[in-house]
Amino acid sequence: MAKVTIVGAGNVGATAAHIIASKNLADVVLVDVAEGLPQGKALDLMHMRSVEKFTVKVTGTNDYAATADSDVVVITAGIARKPGMTREDLLGVNAGIMRSVIAQAQEASPNAIYICVTNPLDVMTTLAQRESGIPTQKLMGMGGVLDSSRLAYAVCEELGCAPEEVEAWALGAHGEGMVCWPRFTKVNGTPITELMDEEAIEKAIKRCVKGGAEVVSFLKTGSAYYAPGASIAKMVEAILTDSHELMSVCAHIDGQYGIDDLYMNIPARLGKNGVEEIVEFPLNEEELKALQVSAESVRNGLKNLETL
Ligand code: LAC
Repeated sequence: MAKVTIVGAGNVGATAAHIIASKNLADVVLVDVAEGLPQGKALDLMHMRSVEKFTVKVTGTNDYAATADSDVVVITAGIARKPGMTREDLLGVNAGIMRSVIAQAQEASPNAIYICVTNPLDVMTTLAQRESGIPTQKLMGMGGVLDSSRLAYAVCEELGCAPEEVEAWALGAHGEGMVCWPRFTKVNGTPITELMDEEAIEKAIKRCVKGGAEVVSFLKTGSAYYAPGASIAKMVEAILTDSHELMSVCAHIDGQYGIDDLYMNIPARLGKNGVEEIVEFPLNEEELKALQVSAESVRNGLKNLETL
């Protein structure tokens, strides 16, 4: 049985563990600094086994020894934003957490595929790679799957279509600089540019970009976790089943789209080696420019990292 470690037993980590277990994808180890938290959530999840009829095991621990030789390590540890905060505001605190976590996780699972989830996502993914030296193919971030799912939701709401009919693309920075690709966002293969007027498309994009903040403003005490948890599980499944499914992944871009040496959400195929391929969509000049502007917003975040 495959083994997936989830670092951080908060809402995002525990929800991802729940979905991975429910799909019977892998044994899951939840690890957290808080004593009792991962153990309690793991036990609660194990109590679900006979109800949901999964056979994988979920364990909780404060000790990375129990995470040894994982196939996939998901890092969700860090603080979440509160109302009025951007993801970028979390940089200082979460950078310290990421440095400590990646070192311990890598020691226990040197050959794993790594998925970073901690915000600000693109900068934290870069930091994890720089600190660890893990090959870029094997270390990525989760942001684009979530953003694309929010765009898909907005399109479904607008057109009244079924979720499975929608292919949605949100990319670039997982933050204020996010971009959407309406020409490649399709319902049953038809671009939304042929199904929705400009105003409706703008509205859907706004709902996508502001979706995370909208959830935060309702919850007040933290940020989203159901859709992030499901998005993590989707990436883990593609890796463990070597599906080569194409999705929006915070992957290391190395020249594609005229962007060099940068982690940001981009269409990528996931498989057993991690990021198997970055796929270049035939963008027009305006779309390419928007993606490059988004890249600049990530580079600005990286500059802030250097001042810490
Ligand atoms: C969000 C946070 C988790 O987009 O980044 O909801």
